[in-house]
Amino acid sequence: RRKVTISHLRHLASQSIPITCLTAYDYPTSLISETCGVDMVLVGDSLSQVCLGHSTTTQITLEEMIHHCKAVTRGAKTPFIFADLPFGSFESDITTGIKSSIRLIKEGLIDGIKIEGGEEIIPLIKQLNKFGIPTIPHLGLQPQRAISLSGYLVQGRDSLKAFDIYELSKKMELAGCTMILLEAIPHKLASKITNDLNIPTIGIGAGNGTSGQVLVISDVLGMYEEGLGGKQKAKFVRHFGEVGKEMRKAVEGYVKEVKSGGFPKQGEETYSMKKEEWLGFE
Ligand code: KIV
Ligand code: NA
Repeated sequence: RRKVTISHLRHLASQSIPITCLTAYDYPTSLISETCGVDMVLVGDSLSQVCLGHSTTTQITLEEMIHHCKAVTRGAKTPFIFADLPFGSFESDITTGIKSSIRLIKEGLIDGIKIEGGEEIIPLIKQLNKFGIPTIPHLGLQPQRAISLSGYLVQGRDSLKAFDIYELSKKMELAGCTMILLEAIPHKLASKITNDLNIPTIGIGAGNGTSGQVLVISDVLGMYEEGLGGKQKAKFVRHFGEVGKEMRKAVEGYVKEVKSGGFPKQGEETYSMKKEEWLGFE
């Protein structure tokens, strides 16, 4: 498989072939997307919760994001890879945002940058575009603002808010972004945005009218039986496997076998010596 380019992603969108996107946080989670032919891989700041056990995405640092990007790019060679600008790495001024983006690209070896925000990130999007850095603004539910939103709530349900998101998506396209990510908004709003823009849209909890879908890999795998960090599973999440149960079964089996002396099996799982009498054995 050849490296997925932006023009290939545009082509898929123009042919109404849904784009597949999954998050990855390390070598094994990126290798599975590589192997299965996933189009895009997102090193999401959800890794703060999914991998590092924090309660929100705001706790992850740029340094940690770069560390994980490096591992992801070792496993995923062909998908288009983008990563979140983490909370605190771009808000203070545009120079900081540019420096953080360049570090993610240069040290993390990724292809593009995802940024949560509204009008206030447009100057940064414009500037990154000028330097040839692909950008993907994240509209709708923005998890970095979950505290001020009083939770992970659907956005744009009333028409005034919906219109705000719609207008914002148009401004983002004008600013030169490569794609738009839409999270937890009504499916009709996501479809209208997708129809009216020329760039592809990637949705999560935004229905099937977007150019593509993204999900968190641990959700797809069913790694956490209770959902993320014991939280209730979001309406838009589907578990396509039961990896969490499988992991528990394996480790329970190991513990039981070691405790009972059943592992390792003499002969089958052990090494013998060439001349055992040398050690005083028979
Ligand atoms: O951080 C993340 O994984 C994300 C996706 C859920 C879109 O932003
Ligand atoms: Na994110």
